[in-house]
Amino acid sequence: MFITFEGPEGSGKSTQLILLAAWLRGLGEDVLTTREPGGTVIGDRVRAILLDPACAEMRAETELLLFSAARAQHVGQAIRPHLARGGVVLCDRYADSSLAYQGYGRGLDLATLQVITAFATGGLRPDLVVFLDIDAEAGLRRKQLHAHDDASQWNRMEQETLAYHQRVRAGYWQMAAAEPGRWLLVDASQAVDAVQAVVQARVRQLLPPRP
Ligand code: TYD
Repeated sequence: MFITFEGPEGSGKSTQLILLAAWLRGLGEDVLTTREPGGTVIGDRVRAILLDPACAEMRAETELLLFSAARAQHVGQAIRPHLARGGVVLCDRYADSSLAYQGYGRGLDLATLQVITAFATGGLRPDLVVFLDIDAEAGLRRKQLHAHDDASQWNRMEQETLAYHQRVRAGYWQMAAAEPGRWLLVDASQAVDAVQAVVQARVRQLLPPRP
């Protein structure tokens, strides 16, 4: 089973992913937790370029291809092998981030993006996309609050305008509305435990029946 976590900055994806992983492990599942861009040595190197404020002049096309290059490696080296062993993969961001940020956010053609994404992933799509939805401004504020713990997190992507982050969020909504069977939209402004309960309830339905 392949589950991805999506949402604007500061939506609490990584916290929810860690909690879900612990719950699934408690049920005996073999869980791989990973993130994009990253998840492999090559992916982490690409990540460093993408998030570096010194790379501010990067073109949208370059950005998309770098995310896609990291993803191609991630799918082939980490995600598919774990799924093939019967494990569960929980991934913090995946292809839908490219559609939201480079497509809806930066205005790259969505049909082209879909072709590039299909090439990079070999057509691997998540069984469930957990969309943690939060108002773009509230999310950025949350992220800024946590920035003292790790200043490097306040990176090139987050320095974008509020309008850009609002387009990203609206893009997520459109994708969630188009495929309600595959997307779970959760109000991420709720308490951590409340959000997790909604996520677990949905994931429980996807697990094979237990004796
Ligand atoms: P990260 O520090 O992982 O942010 P977050 O905690 O919000 O996930 O940085 C990832 C950044 O890269 C984030 O701003 C979203 C962006 N991104 C894209 O623009 N396109 C993509 O395909 C992916 C995977 C991420």
